[in-house]
Amino acid sequence: MKPSMMRSACQLLRRRSYSSTSGQPERKVAILGAAGGIGQPLALLMKLNPLVSSLSLYDIAGTPGVAADISHINTPALAKGFMGEDQLKEALEGSDVVIIPAGVPRKPGMTRDDLFNINAGIVKNLAIAIAKYCPNALVNMISNPVNSTVPIAAEVFKKAGTYDEKRLFGVTTLDVVRAKTFYAGKANVPVTDVNVPVVGGHAGITILPLFSQATPATNALSHEDIKALTKRTQDGGTEVVEAKAGKGSATLSMAYAGAVFADACLKGLNGVPDIVECSYVQSTVTELPFFASKVKLGKNGVEEVLGLGELSDFEKEGLENLKGELKSSIEKGIKFANEN
Ligand code: NAD
Ligand code: LMR
Repeated sequence: MKPSMMRSACQLLRRRSYSSTSGQPERKVAILGAAGGIGQPLALLMKLNPLVSSLSLYDIAGTPGVAADISHINTPALAKGFMGEDQLKEALEGSDVVIIPAGVPRKPGMTRDDLFNINAGIVKNLAIAIAKYCPNALVNMISNPVNSTVPIAAEVFKKAGTYDEKRLFGVTTLDVVRAKTFYAGKANVPVTDVNVPVVGGHAGITILPLFSQATPATNALSHEDIKALTKRTQDGGTEVVEAKAGKGSATLSMAYAGAVFADACLKGLNGVPDIVECSYVQSTVTELPFFASKVKLGKNGVEEVLGLGELSDFEKEGLENLKGELKSSIEKGIKFANEN
């Protein structure tokens, strides 16, 4: 069966019901890696999200406890725990959004790419299960190295005949969250008013914040300030890894960022207009097949991948500098998916 026919068949098989209390569509969100450092606070935030009616918490260990705990919170989302591969089918079936923070985090001195050997296999197996049990779900990939794990999932979905580029997202929201915080602090503007697009990928120099497009605009920042803000945003993950001194990487800020992005996906699915977030998606914005930029979200996931807008000379240089590393991370993911 052609991928498009398979998708419509699956769509026909699914009944969309609406909550009798809120009138919102019933939405199931699954978190894979739900007992981890990100998974637990993310599960909490999704339990608090009024758009979620069913919350599926999957991990290889620990989910009965997390689910029992979360399920006592008096919000509408029905939380259920699933543990081990034989429960993965039930965990995934009927999911509208699948969030993946499964895998190992960095320790000081490691790059995100150093996680590839372990996380690539984890992500590949989870993607195989998603293709089988919920091929229509929007997939929010958090597991690092995101620059490679997203292409891995894409290849798995292609092989399974379920790939829809509109439904696969690398979560780069934490880069945006950091850029907003650091900009607000330096420019001395209220952080809740700030917006900063971050493009490229999610590792080191592939993270390219576009402070020239930051709002509210300010001329209080020198070129040196912008350079320092850019470097701090690019090194934000490492700053946390070093501060945690061997006890993992960003979990709380990532859970917040993951919840913001999942909420945007749910709003898009529900037909809320003008939902725009930065995300690492299949793209024609540059010559690279995957690239993070502003994305408009809609009823089918990506509605439009937005362009980069006008860049400063410094940003143009950053863009050229990141392409080599991003290209090889993408190729590494594709190769792994096809050879393993
Ligand atoms: P963690 O070790 O605390 O939690 C990971 C969880 O994944 C654990 O509970 C583990 O049991 C589970 N897991 C392992 N294999 C699994 C499998 N096959 N199926 C389901 N669950 C599985 O790590 P963490 O701090 O939560 O980080 C998770 C990942 O997120 C890491 O790869 C990290 O680098 C990444 N991360 C990404 C971003 C981002 O911005 N995209 C930010 C922070 C961390
Ligand atoms: C982050 O940006 O915090 C994550 O990618 C985790 C890491 O390893 O830095």
